[in-house]
Amino acid sequence: MLPNAMSGAVGSAVSAPVPDEAVAPLMRGITVLRRLTEADGALSLSGLEKATGLARSTVDRITATLARMGYVRLDGRDAVLAPRLMELGNAYLASIRLPRLLDAYADALADEFDESVSLAVGDRDGIRFIHQATRRRAMSLSFRIGDLLPAERTAPGPLFATEWDAADWARWRARREADPEARGFPAVPPRGGAYDDFEARTAEAGARGWALDDQLIEPGLVAVSVPVREPRTGRVACVANVVSHTSRHTAESLGSALLPRLRVAVAEMEAELKRDRGPRVASGPYGSGAGSAPSGLAAWTSASKQELGREFIESLARGLTVITSFGEGRAELTLTDVAQATGLARATARRALITLEHLGYVESYDRVFRLTPRVLGLGFPPLSMLPLSRIAAPHLAELSERVHDSASLAILTGGGEEVQYTARVATSRVMSVNITLGTRLPAYATSLGRVMLADLPEPRLPELLPLTPHTITDRRELLALLERVRSDGYALVDGELEEGLRSIAVPVRDGGGRVVAAVNVAMHSSRRSVEQCVAEVLPELRAVVGRIEAELRVAGRFRRVPGV
Ligand code: PHB
Repeated sequence: MLPNAMSGAVGSAVSAPVPDEAVAPLMRGITVLRRLTEADGALSLSGLEKATGLARSTVDRITATLARMGYVRLDGRDAVLAPRLMELGNAYLASIRLPRLLDAYADALADEFDESVSLAVGDRDGIRFIHQATRRRAMSLSFRIGDLLPAERTAPGPLFATEWDAADWARWRARREADPEARGFPAVPPRGGAYDDFEARTAEAGARGWALDDQLIEPGLVAVSVPVREPRTGRVACVANVVSHTSRHTAESLGSALLPRLRVAVAEMEAELKRDRGPRVASGPYGSGAGSAPSGLAAWTSASKQELGREFIESLARGLTVITSFGEGRAELTLTDVAQATGLARATARRALITLEHLGYVESYDRVFRLTPRVLGLGFPPLSMLPLSRIAAPHLAELSERVHDSASLAILTGGGEEVQYTARVATSRVMSVNITLGTRLPAYATSLGRVMLADLPEPRLPELLPLTPHTITDRRELLALLERVRSDGYALVDGELEEGLRSIAVPVRDGGGRVVAAVNVAMHSSRRSVEQCVAEVLPELRAVVGRIEAELRVAGRFRRVPGV
């Protein structure tokens, strides 16, 4: 951890005058991303114009640039945050290493308690979640990775505040005065009232080493929190929280029932931090980390500029890419490191860093820069909730438009014997199979099912019924075919589910290479021959699945992406 001097210098940055060297288009682009995040990921372009106060032509150019980067999708009149934007938050989460080291402990604790467990870091006068193992019942709101809460309305807040200096307290008081209901924290219901006991709660938390939240956020929600300390400095690295509801626990009973076990888990987390030999705070030599540094950025932005002309704002693209030069093993970078990683001229990288520091996304200390938790505020909360079905949907629409046939995403269900449709874009062409979202079909007789079965070491096959005269009903024949599907990387099923129905599917793999879903194109057999399906449809299918997988890798780096 860095000395206090740094945190004090940072907080006042936002109200500080804009430095002469700040890059205005980068500031405006970040404003657009923040408004979209506050609007839960989507706004019309005219809504963005109102929310940002920017001219329509500026909004158009910014969104075109963000769309080119894959950070935003333009959907008719709407701008929608796209999963690739999560690479900014991922850069922060990778650089601090805490999720990678501690998430599994939090998940195990949530399983053991059957209660939600979260990890939060301090973010000036607030706390920000870096992990959520959610077991929330319907009764209470739950928070997402990247959500920011006012420190005084949480259990971890007082634990972080034990390390605040005079400037931090002054900033907190000024904010309380300016925004008594904490409306600047859209994740929490606005609520006035005196949280003047925050200083007393902080003193108590410091003395006890733990803290409670007795319905400070909303009626019913209670939490108990313990700090996880950085072994080398003893400072609070993050705080582990167990969250429950008054229908199961009072704040006091939550504390007495679960605190002892929570403390043991925190001791294990601290031991994990101690064992970790990766550079958690200090940077290694550039390039030593496993994170991916952007490469060829300069060439890419020039090409985009060539192609899009005035609509592409190079300085915005470059500035945002500076954030992705941080990552695992690259927590602290010098200006030279950043320039090297991005391929930007030093002067350009420097102006981007000055801008990001002014906005509070970067802190500097002794000529090294590092990301702040605020980076998670750039799209992470809404995007971290997207299931695979919603990540895939726009890609299926594109595929269906290109091949003029229906495209679908399905997962394996029913003990591995059925496929279930989770996203679908149908063409108007009439097909007798009546498929809607949620439809289940026998896996063995569908292309979707076969690519997923082919990935299993021992696929479960039910009795193979002849659904048409063409259905393969011989188990050995089917198992041999699945081998073939595995090596081909696709399955084509011709009239086995239904006479006249032809479909071709490829698997969707997660970042670990596991098949988690499949995408197919289905058509009447009069539309294309089997050969045409392979020659014309398969390449389109593969290209689209490649894009879905790329987004899934970004979205799933620090969180399991649910299927639906
Ligand atoms: C949460 O993880 O949702 C949480 C944590 C601490 C609180 C309230 C909620 O005080």
